[in-house]
Amino acid sequence: MSRKILVTSALPYANGAIHLGHLVEYIQTDIWVRFQKMRGHECWYVCADDTHGTPIMLRAEAEGITPEALIDRMYAEHLRDFSGFCIDFDNYYSTHSPETKAFAEQIYERLLAAGLIEKRAIEQFFDPARAMFLPDRFIKGECPKCGAKDQYGDNCEACGAAYAPTELKNPYSAVSGVKPELRQSEHYFFKLSDPRCESFLRRYTAPENGVLQSEAANKMREWLGQEGEHLLSDWDISRDAPYFGFEIPNAPGKFFYVWLDAPIGYMGSFKNLCERVGLDFDEYFKPDSSAELYHFIGKDILYFHALFWPAELAHANFRTPDKICAHGFLTVDGAKMSKSRGTFITAASYLAQGLNPEWLRYYFAGKLSSSLEDIDLNLEDFIARVNSDLIGKYINIASRAAGFIVKRFDGKLAAADASLPAFNAIQEAAPRIAELFENREFSRAMREIMALSDIANQYVDSVKPWELAKQTGAEVLLHQSCSHALNLFRLLTILLKPVLPALSEQVESFLKIDPLLWRDVDSLLPVGHTIAPYQHLMTRIDPKQIAALIEANRDSAPAAQPAPQAVPLPVEKSETIGIEDFMKVDLRIARIVEAGPVEGADKLVRLVLDIGEEKPRQVFAGIKSAYDPALLADRLTVMVANLAPRKMKFGVSEGMVLAASDQSGNESGIYLLAPDSGARPGMRVQ
Ligand code: 2FM
Ligand code: ZN
Repeated sequence: MSRKILVTSALPYANGAIHLGHLVEYIQTDIWVRFQKMRGHECWYVCADDTHGTPIMLRAEAEGITPEALIDRMYAEHLRDFSGFCIDFDNYYSTHSPETKAFAEQIYERLLAAGLIEKRAIEQFFDPARAMFLPDRFIKGECPKCGAKDQYGDNCEACGAAYAPTELKNPYSAVSGVKPELRQSEHYFFKLSDPRCESFLRRYTAPENGVLQSEAANKMREWLGQEGEHLLSDWDISRDAPYFGFEIPNAPGKFFYVWLDAPIGYMGSFKNLCERVGLDFDEYFKPDSSAELYHFIGKDILYFHALFWPAELAHANFRTPDKICAHGFLTVDGAKMSKSRGTFITAASYLAQGLNPEWLRYYFAGKLSSSLEDIDLNLEDFIARVNSDLIGKYINIASRAAGFIVKRFDGKLAAADASLPAFNAIQEAAPRIAELFENREFSRAMREIMALSDIANQYVDSVKPWELAKQTGAEVLLHQSCSHALNLFRLLTILLKPVLPALSEQVESFLKIDPLLWRDVDSLLPVGHTIAPYQHLMTRIDPKQIAALIEANRDSAPAAQPAPQAVPLPVEKSETIGIEDFMKVDLRIARIVEAGPVEGADKLVRLVLDIGEEKPRQVFAGIKSAYDPALLADRLTVMVANLAPRKMKFGVSEGMVLAASDQSGNESGIYLLAPDSGARPGMRVQ
């Protein structure tokens, strides 16, 4: 019976590049979806960029562009990377869309009507310099447990302690560097602690309901606790302006928290697909829908997908997900991906090095299972496995037989003997392998397929076409054995097609056959079927390519040295900007009140600058190689007065002085700008 299935992968944030860690999930999902489509099911795969939130807003600001311009650029990059890895979304969309906005408002209003939204004042850190409330990740300070410096507001990377940002010692804003203040603000909460939510979630996440993997169901039991323990807290779904997101209806200045509209983005993307191709959205999302809904996610976002999201859906009169398929993290050579080791590999760099995306698809398939365990990309093993399995076993079958068929038999196949044991082995294994694909046990499926490739190779080894070709009178045997080999190759291609879609397409055109479906495994190519001349299907991995990939990803910049504050002006032609852009830079005449060396920073000078404000500003400038600090006092110069304050190792830098230099930096000197006489501190430069 044909199923209707809607499948999603987690929506990647629109402020970062796609890397191999992301690809584990998209490749896993894509394989599963392709398998379902090959089985003849109506299966739709949707995704989108996750575009809202403070980090995206601040990144756009830092780049001097609008958040819309940033998310448009990232969208194009993400789509390019995904299609480079043959991730075949039926729709790739954006959460910054009218569809997602409409669903976010609808769900919110239904939850409000159900009495599941509550308004409450909370105390939160506020950055007075930027006039914004700070998310936990934008507050730094000393760990309250171990005293480590520069730790985030939610947990300490040195000792692992978790805490509230208010517990940090000497907190500072990571946005401006200033000391944050505690301020009150009204927030909107989704009442997860409501007995209706709790009892729904107990039923929904119960192991026998089959939505969650067993490890995930165990985690849920931990989070939900025993009946009567009431461990669930309400969820803060609002953020104060300035925020890049959707404003909450009837709540001016309050925005939906990015995690509220992110999963709703699944619906937004699907709705957009429905309009495009004429599908009935409600058939998939009504409460009693018989269509299936699958979410593929990383194990780090289980809480959002297994608690908040289904509770929202259930109480807003929508269906809930049938399965939440969580996977583990990717490690490279047994360790966390690292920029300094070059193992934080971006999708774009992999493709730019000319590496075949299907090598990685196959390797990941060989590692993926239905569990939450992390998976390791061992680079040596990657080379060995791809070369020995894909080239040495699978491709080898075709390359040893195709030439003879084309050269000796005009490209025509002989009749295949359907009782050949190797055919039977594959055909008998196919339903078992289908079951493994269905249950996301890809690594076991790959092992079975390679064992079948061994059987196919043993057949070729036993008939030795290359020897038959030299014997007189062995034409019939040669014709039949090579035809058998190509039939075996075709059957194995069916089984590998969800993993190797591009290669399968090449095989289909070389064998001159229609796109392969799963059921084709029960048939063989008919006698007289003509194939095209064999073209090389896949190359081996050269270890040098992997070494080059690592080199290309190695971040060789010295670790976390703050950039000098005096920025040399580029000589290269810059992008043209309008006067309004230029006017955003507040340039002021500054008098150097004090100048001194900075301990531990050879290139920096600490300047105290008077720009006519009550309190002089402190600025660190990278001009030490050209200026003796002792001679700088009382000079006039020009400073950028509205640059976001920057927390440096030595203190906060509250602006930047302007200096000229050639592109190479220090070679021909640094020249501090100075106004003509008569200029006074605080005068605007324009
Ligand atoms: O963790 C993340 O990368 C989020 N952007 C995932 C969102 S998944 C879904 F809820 F949209
Ligand atoms: Zn600590």
